[in-house]
Amino acid sequence: MASGDPLVLGIETSCDETGVALVRGNELLVDATASSMDEHARYGGIIPEVASRAHLEAMIPTIGKALGQADVDLSEVDAIAVTAGPGLVGPLTIGTSAAKALAVGLNKPLYGVNHVIGHAAVDQLVDGEFPERVMALVVSGGHSSLLLVDDVATKVTELGSTLDDAAGEAFDKVGRLLGLPYPGGPHIDRLAREGDPEAIRFPRGLTAAKDQEKHAYDFSFSGLKTAVARWVESCRDSGREVPVGDVAASFAAAVVDVLTAKTIAACRRHEVETLVVGGGFSANSQLRELAAKRCAEAGIDLRIPPIRYCTDNGAMIAALGSAVVRAGVAPSSLDFGVDSQMPLTTVSL
Ligand code: KG4
Ligand code: ZN
Repeated sequence: MASGDPLVLGIETSCDETGVALVRGNELLVDATASSMDEHARYGGIIPEVASRAHLEAMIPTIGKALGQADVDLSEVDAIAVTAGPGLVGPLTIGTSAAKALAVGLNKPLYGVNHVIGHAAVDQLVDGEFPERVMALVVSGGHSSLLLVDDVATKVTELGSTLDDAAGEAFDKVGRLLGLPYPGGPHIDRLAREGDPEAIRFPRGLTAAKDQEKHAYDFSFSGLKTAVARWVESCRDSGREVPVGDVAASFAAAVVDVLTAKTIAACRRHEVETLVVGGGFSANSQLRELAAKRCAEAGIDLRIPPIRYCTDNGAMIAALGSAVVRAGVAPSSLDFGVDSQMPLTTVSL
């Protein structure tokens, strides 16, 4: 550990997880999380007001838990990083308000940072400092973005993103139409392992020749979702039993085929030799398998952190905060507002 590095407290509240972590350099001291997912499951989606209330209730206990587990006193913290966006306005406001209060109370610098870039930065805690240039594929229930990362603290370019549903969101929607519990992603993953991925040829969105210019690195999953819905409907209409495993496997194959093909093409085009995959959807076993296979074939070094760091957490924000502080970036002004649509080129405010 580089003990001279500043101790950064990270706070994440962009969706339903209240995350608090401490990072020094690339070393994670503690990562504490409280989730309100159980409260949302019965609604089949995240209810922002419910999430905001849960963040409010969990914030101080989660900060206390993190400090207690790391045996760190608040006075030892050198800087505070907090998710400024993108995400849900109410939840983001709770996190940034808490972070601002801490920054003022402790008289320490505050950094409002980008949640999506945090999903890539967290890998530095596991696999070490990024090489000069990496490609990052961030896939979750809320985002599907392809980022060219020249410097995770200062220079990130968004090459593409989803034009409609995120990968996890598409899995959740197909899960719903197959009658699976929310969130459907992990259930489809499990069912897909027993099905035939070549049983049904579902469409690969934005892969036609005409899309190669404008949308070479963008994704679209809503047409695929509609194709699955139609296929299942016609199966039910004709009185046949829906082969759920084959539908899940063929659907999953279509999603991960497009994600990996476009990502590898971007790595080749930009001569990038390291790919980082992050976000909750990177738990998906079809994605892991195909990404490993295609990266090996293309000679690309694949870095996917363990799943506990891929879902939303405080470690990703502390990791990005730590990189930003070490890069000498100026702190955010205390009056910054949350940005639910924060551009993926903005690392910190
Ligand atoms: O990062 P995350 O925890 O929260 C968001 O920021 O969205 O990602 C959750 C998303 C959900 O859509 C969930 O269904 C999906 O990731 N997911 C999966 C798997 N595990 C989680 N999707 C497919 N296969 C999985 N194994
Ligand atoms: Zn996320």
